[in-house]
Amino acid sequence: MLDRIVHHLIHRRAHGHAASTHPEGGHVGHDLHGDGRFAGEHAERYDRQARTRSRSYRRTAREVAALVPDGGHVLDVGTGPGRLLVEIARARPDAEVTGVDVEPAMVELAQRAARAEGLGERVRVEVANVAELPLEAFSVDAAVATLTVHHWPDADRAVRELVRVVRPGGSLLVVDFRSELDGRFRAALDAAVPGARVRRARRWMWGMPVLASWTVTLP
Ligand SMILES: C[S@@+](CC[C@H](N)C(=O)[O-])C[C@H]1O[C@@H](n2cnc3c(N)ncnc32)[C@H](O)[C@@H]1O
Repeated sequence: MLDRIVHHLIHRRAHGHAASTHPEGGHVGHDLHGDGRFAGEHAERYDRQARTRSRSYRRTAREVAALVPDGGHVLDVGTGPGRLLVEIARARPDAEVTGVDVEPAMVELAQRAARAEGLGERVRVEVANVAELPLEAFSVDAAVATLTVHHWPDADRAVRELVRVVRPGGSLLVVDFRSELDGRFRAALDAAVPGARVRRARRWMWGMPVLASWTVTLP
């Protein structure tokens, strides 16, 4: 219940109106393209909101950095305006850093953010859906996904795709609503990789422990 209220508030802020046209229960459908929720001015507005969470992104970036071997490859799925992506690239100057997002407006913002930090050469950002990643099998050491899992219409397909691109022994770090991770994400993970090890931590937002962070080690 608390999750739903907080989620509603987040979307109200990001979109400037109530989220009632996109009831979360239905996981509004988009297949391989974005559903427009983060297009145009919504992307800009979300970016302004994301900038207020820079401490959280820095912390998550440090956690991701610790999961990547020297010269490794990090993937940020549903990178949005790239605030976390840039922090990861800063934290690990040796790493290859790729961001993908289904929404072209977000990809443009993330590319701009990387260029503004002089990281344009090393950070690659592409339009792509988590359900169909433009990456070779086992080419990623660690994938991260923050506040995006609850937008994926088909969690099973998404998790299967992540497991395809992350190498055995690699990691997935996801931050999302606790109910989302305990529900659809857990079921998808169990189906895709029954032997995966999960380390859970609580994350607070606006003083409430509605979010969780899961670090999954793939077998
Ligand atoms: C709430 S934003 C989070 C952005 C960023 N990860 C952050 O923490 O600031 C959710 C992002 O997920 C993206 N997204 C939603 N569904 C997606 C999908 N199926 N594949 C890739 N990106 C997706 C949206 O376009 C949006 O940019």
